[in-house]
Amino acid sequence: MTLDDRPGIGADAPKGGELRVPGHVARLDLTNFRSYAALRLDVGPSPVVLTGANGAGKTNLLEALSFLAPGRGLRRAALPDVARVHAGAAATSWAVAAQVEGADGAVALGTGMEASTNGGPARRAVRIDGEPARGQAAFAERISMIWLAPDMDRLFMEGGSGRRRFVDRMVYGFDPEHARRIAVYEQATRGRQKLLREGSGDSVWLAAEEETMATTGIAISAARREVVTRLDAAITAEADARTRPFPRAGLTFEGAVETWLADGPALEAEDRLRDTLAAGRARDADAGRALHGPHRSDLVAHNHDKDMAAALCSTGEQKALLIAIVLAHAHLLGLTRGAAPVLLLDEVAAHLDQERRAALAERILSLGAQAWLTGTDRHLFEAFGSDAQIFEVNAGAVAPVTGDSP
Ligand SMILES: Nc1ncnc2c1ncn2[C@@H]1O[C@H](COP(=O)(O)OP(=O)(O)OP(=O)(O)O)[C@@H](O)[C@H]1O
Ligand SMILES: [Mg+2]
Repeated sequence: MTLDDRPGIGADAPKGGELRVPGHVARLDLTNFRSYAALRLDVGPSPVVLTGANGAGKTNLLEALSFLAPGRGLRRAALPDVARVHAGAAATSWAVAAQVEGADGAVALGTGMEASTNGGPARRAVRIDGEPARGQAAFAERISMIWLAPDMDRLFMEGGSGRRRFVDRMVYGFDPEHARRIAVYEQATRGRQKLLREGSGDSVWLAAEEETMATTGIAISAARREVVTRLDAAITAEADARTRPFPRAGLTFEGAVETWLADGPALEAEDRLRDTLAAGRARDADAGRALHGPHRSDLVAHNHDKDMAAALCSTGEQKALLIAIVLAHAHLLGLTRGAAPVLLLDEVAAHLDQERRAALAERILSLGAQAWLTGTDRHLFEAFGSDAQIFEVNAGAVAPVTGDSP
């Protein structure tokens, strides 16, 4: 299977036209979200710069936006941790709501934690235009968003799950169904593991979970592989002048499942995964997890300028690689979808020298992306000139900075 075989990706896009991605944020409303008791922020489609002292609430705002993408946001926080703590007590609910302008006009996205009524665990609510939606995956159909946060400086050094999530966020922009497939795959994986743990000999149920894992798992791998391959090709094809001063990244997505996909048709890969799972039940029961599947594959990144694996590059070089990848993704998504994704870039400018800061501003402006950038020092964003919307964040309040204030 290739991306172009799936609805909305290639020539067979559904009638009625464009998918409603990427989109940009026009209004953001926060309620009891971390340091924000209540906030309303109206912004235009151009880059947004958030400056303010340490602890002012800059990252919190980006984190709030990141809840408009499938997943647990850019800090991977547990739902209750995000609720505003005030005078020693945590709020019992929180909400992030946004007005998003996309190819199909405006849409209201809302999410948050609903207060538990029966003492059970808190629940994540997801609403589109006020109506409950079928899970967070629905957001990926309305807005495309990708981020870089300081803790991702170690992305190439740590385990594969962070890299898979990074790739998945890039895939959502091209294929919003990807988020739903991942949810289904993970649910089937948990279901199978539970049956194995219980020693349930009921192979009918096991086979059903494995069937779901095989079909969704291969689709997940195919989408990751396709997007990473296209990204790598796009980076290679770009003239050096465009990518400089950011390093040229080489990207592959690798694993057993990807090898199967390279070797033959997707249906055959599904059969192989189904057979491997069925044959590995005893071993997976012992291990407490499935030892085969797309969750074992990984993004492999190389710095071509240094001819060095990403993990062996310096901290600054790895950061520059990540920026290069995110910019290439935004560029490719812009070419494919006609608009760049929303970029959340937390503390990115502070780590760049002046030449790279200028290049970053230039690239963001030429992409036409609504990038949200944070930094303690306004002067880090001078390269945007008057093309960015600058806000001062201070103790749960966000105020526009006019051209002539210091
Ligand atoms: N659940 C919560 N309730 C209330 N306040 C919180 C909660 N979680 C975090 N905070 C506070 O929010 C404040 C702002 O945090 P944030 O990370 O957004 O700061 P920042 O502006 O990004 O600072 P820095 O420049 O240091 O990165 C911090 O003082 C933090 O303690
Ligand atoms: Mg911060």
